[in-house]
Amino acid sequence: MACEIRIFENERAAAEHAAEYITTILAAAIAQNGRASVALAGGRTPRLLYRLLADPPYRDRVPWQAVDWFWGDERLVPPDHPDSNYRLAAETLLNRLPIDPDRIHRIPTELGAEAAAVAYERTLRSLFGTHERDIPQLDLVLLGMGADAHVASLFPGTKALHETEHLVVANEVPALGTVRITFTPPLIRAARHVIVLVTGSEKAAAVRAALEETDDPDRVPAHILRGAHGTVVWILDRAAAHDLSLSTGPCP
Ligand code: 6PG
Repeated sequence: MACEIRIFENERAAAEHAAEYITTILAAAIAQNGRASVALAGGRTPRLLYRLLADPPYRDRVPWQAVDWFWGDERLVPPDHPDSNYRLAAETLLNRLPIDPDRIHRIPTELGAEAAAVAYERTLRSLFGTHERDIPQLDLVLLGMGADAHVASLFPGTKALHETEHLVVANEVPALGTVRITFTPPLIRAARHVIVLVTGSEKAAAVRAALEETDDPDRVPAHILRGAHGTVVWILDRAAAHDLSLSTGPCP
């Protein structure tokens, strides 16, 4: 695997680079296979990126009808709830692009956490045609990271960090007093490309822990990315990169 750190002046420059890079990955996958698959992130950070992708010049770079859309995690709320990761992406990105509605694969939270995870795993397997032991390879998994170094809904000390069989699970998060539905480490690690977009000074310590501290995924969940099969690119702004001893270039 290859891992790279890319640092930009501010949040806007980081989001613009992410838009540039994502459209390159998706256009290349479509040119090669006739389709592309992406898992989106939730949270605050990707808003600007999603808006950029739906506007020129980025919107003109990808035949969006050929993209299958997934979510790397979801909160246990209905799709029209303000906290829904689906709703965030729909409003800022998907409703503004010429996409195929049959290719929007949202996590069916209305089934309840456990059943939603089972159903989503089934959706992934049927779309990728994989046998039970194989792991689908998404073209791109987009992640954010929390100040506690969680990625997707793999929070410190939670069970899903140790999942080896399933692609998607319901993960109890005692720190939030809730259950989240999340991609598991094996599914994230199988992706051809992983992008971690992180901005803001409140993430600086987590970025340092993720990139420069010794392996301890229970404390620093982002360490699960160290076993990724494809490329991992950390797109950071200067504030998030502040505590790193490294600069733009390969991960340590
Ligand atoms: C979610 C996520 C999560 C997110 C981080 C960062 O549903 O919350 O997908 O992993 O990316 O919590 O969130 P912010 O961008 O809001 O800081």
